[in-house]
Amino acid sequence: MMQVKATVDGGFPVCEIDDRLYGSFIEHLGRAIYTGIYEPSHPGADADGFRTDVLELVRELRVPIVRYPGGNYASAYNWEDGVGPKASRRARLDLAWRAGEPNLVGIGEFARWAKKAGSEVMMALNLGTRGIEETRNQVEYCNHPGGTYFSDLRHSHGNPEPYNFKVWCLGNEMDGPWQVGCKTAEEYGKLAREVGKALKLFDPSLQLVVCGSSGPGMPTFPQWEATVLDLCQEQADFLSLHTYAKKVGDDSATFLGETTQFEAFIKTVESTVEFARARARSKKRIKLSVDEWNVWYHSDAAAAKVEPWSVGPRLLEDVYTLEDALVVGAFLIVLLRHADSVRMACLAQLVNTIAPIMTEPGGPAWRQTIFYPFLHASLYGRGRALPTSVASPAYENAKHGQVPYLDAMSVLSPNGREVTVFCVNRSPDSKAALELRLGGFSKISVLEHLVLSHPDPLAVNDKAHPELVIPRKAQGALVDRDLLKATIEPYSWNVLRLSVE
Ligand code: AHR
Repeated sequence: MMQVKATVDGGFPVCEIDDRLYGSFIEHLGRAIYTGIYEPSHPGADADGFRTDVLELVRELRVPIVRYPGGNYASAYNWEDGVGPKASRRARLDLAWRAGEPNLVGIGEFARWAKKAGSEVMMALNLGTRGIEETRNQVEYCNHPGGTYFSDLRHSHGNPEPYNFKVWCLGNEMDGPWQVGCKTAEEYGKLAREVGKALKLFDPSLQLVVCGSSGPGMPTFPQWEATVLDLCQEQADFLSLHTYAKKVGDDSATFLGETTQFEAFIKTVESTVEFARARARSKKRIKLSVDEWNVWYHSDAAAAKVEPWSVGPRLLEDVYTLEDALVVGAFLIVLLRHADSVRMACLAQLVNTIAPIMTEPGGPAWRQTIFYPFLHASLYGRGRALPTSVASPAYENAKHGQVPYLDAMSVLSPNGREVTVFCVNRSPDSKAALELRLGGFSKISVLEHLVLSHPDPLAVNDKAHPELVIPRKAQGALVDRDLLKATIEPYSWNVLRLSVE
């Protein structure tokens, strides 16, 4: 049994956590839209054609904001194709994923779906094939009350109320050679600055996200960030980060350590933002939007076999293991640790496509393993982030160096009466005796200890066994004055909920 000591300082919260840390993402990709959120012929579809079983699961996750319509898809998307009477909408070829796109879901339908889901929309603009003209028309169509050509067009489409989308992404992964219309940092930075200027002239309260690198492995990282920020310091409110963890072969130790690389990525971007701010002599603090993050590797081989130009193909349908859920939990801990700079994040994605929710056309919807750490963080990870230090034994890894077996982060609830400690154990075979000292509270007691684990680290939830990997309550956690003692199982995700005064 490993001995792990930790401290939580209740007296000095790191920051208020922005609820939008628990955002997600739906792209016109694979079956995310068609047979994911939208399936008019499904027995459980509502009058708008949305699957109510999926809506219920999304509501359970309490997702505050959903990025839409891409992703790579956004970079060649014409928003006009997805508005107006469905019968006259144009079917198009989606070049990003080489799929057919009937455009039966567009801005209006998605706004409606998001409202039903209880989510705000983060609208991603096409800065691949388009520019200032089309994006200023789009924002007028979406947000202007009426009396102009594009706002009246929305009225004529049966939507008199403006959508009032507040958060706009100025393109997607514009540094990526796979992107339709990819650009150099200078080209992108100038375009984003001018589009941003137009959007802020329309409404200065809009929050704009400029593209950072598509990942820390890009050859232009982090010079891309520095150049783009130099050009867009005035217009940008957020800088985006994207990251996906992959398992190579059966190397679990490296895979479980991937989030240490993610943390280094965040730190570099935080420093670059400060560097650019100093160069601009600016007081403004641009925040980070990790608007794509997840585990993604199971579906890599299947992607090559998909028939091109089919509608709603089975693409990127990763079936997640318990091990993947631990990595997602470790991602969430890192996001919380940097909640002062990371104000928004989107689990990529939400339904079917690298997603916590899976569906079968005409059939059921179910929760993947990764659903649970995200659910726990979304439910109990709101409020104030508390400084949490963990002294854990570590393992040596060729790619990541020293990786601590245990990682943890704590949150004080908005009413100040609960502390939740999120904790992951990366050891496949060692339990940990956790002793965590909580400063700043007079009375502490254990409310519950939830654990996600399974004897088989590769266990999954699927249509036949949708509840093979589910959280359960653990016994034995106790508090002695200010000391919490709990046993943390090998390969487990833990949620220790404490009542505090
Ligand atoms: O989320 C899947 C894809 O990953 C997105 O379309 C793209 O932005 C990223 O490369």
